[in-house]
Amino acid sequence: MGATGAVGNEFLRILEQRKFPLASLKLLASARSAGKTLKFRGEDLKVEELTEKSFKGIDLVLGSAGGSIARKFNPVAVAAGAVVVCNTSAFRQDPQVPLVVPEVNPEDIAWHKGIIANPNCSTIIMNVPIWPLHKVNPIRRLVVSTYQSVSGAGAQAMAELEQQCRDWSAGKAITKSVMQHQALFNVFSHTSAVADNGYNEEEIKMVNETRKIFHCPDIRVTATCVRVPVLRAHTESINIEFTNPMTEAQVTQVLSKAPGVRIVDDRRKNYFPMPIEAADGDDVLVGRIRQDVTLDGRGIDLFVSGDQIRKGAALNAVQIAERL
Ligand code: A2P
Repeated sequence: MGATGAVGNEFLRILEQRKFPLASLKLLASARSAGKTLKFRGEDLKVEELTEKSFKGIDLVLGSAGGSIARKFNPVAVAAGAVVVCNTSAFRQDPQVPLVVPEVNPEDIAWHKGIIANPNCSTIIMNVPIWPLHKVNPIRRLVVSTYQSVSGAGAQAMAELEQQCRDWSAGKAITKSVMQHQALFNVFSHTSAVADNGYNEEEIKMVNETRKIFHCPDIRVTATCVRVPVLRAHTESINIEFTNPMTEAQVTQVLSKAPGVRIVDDRRKNYFPMPIEAADGDDVLVGRIRQDVTLDGRGIDLFVSGDQIRKGAALNAVQIAERL
């Protein structure tokens, strides 16, 4: 559901790459895309219009067509007997719906009632490296700042940044219609709605979703979410305050064994995680592992980068489906 979008396209690549066991695959999108074809395992598959009748005989729905579509069609799919792994925020805070990062809380998959929610991309990329640390030394407080790529705003936002590059190099005026602000040569606050307290929706998701995934309602998280002119992969600066002292070496040791994490941390060469190296990969890259000098041994700073279309969305959802 949402097969023609940025995440939808990635679903196809990942299902193919991971040899996901499936007998048949149905591609659903809006009426605008009906009749288009997409390649899967060397075959051209036709995109169909999403309707209430789309789910007959379907076991599993991977959804990424936006919140309002999810609210309307997830219950229809569940009534038809399917399990939905939903990439939108529509059901994430529903107490009847597990919110899962397989490296963190795979056990929550078991209690699903038809819908399993895939967390927000920035949340997943933060949670994968901090969970193994939290297990050995409970985290009290997190301060995170994101550097989010435009692909988080969808395939059309990527196309818009590329067009802005072409227009600028051709000496033409830069235009925008998908993103609220010019992405090229710019950095801007995430354009989700800003609440009365000044936090935007993306920031609030990082707080509330981390609490739900970790089963830790009192973990303190503050976030600043920012869009940068990167096509793909989100980067985050994460400051962690632990309960007990923890050295750089201890953190590095835990992270070197953590699933889904790859350490990229070479101070001599000034070589650390970068979105162009995280893009198209499955791991969250982690580096700049260093003691926060203000926290008497209980603070650590990290710089992480992960492909938010893969681990932040499609890959995480397919990993959930594999466990199912
Ligand atoms: P379509 O390409 O036909 O518009 P992205 O997040 O990259 O913008 O992708 C959104 C996905 O959700 C696309 O596959 C898009 O299909 C799909 N979508 C958007 N609106 C609808 C709708 N009303 N019904 C079904 N699919 C939709």
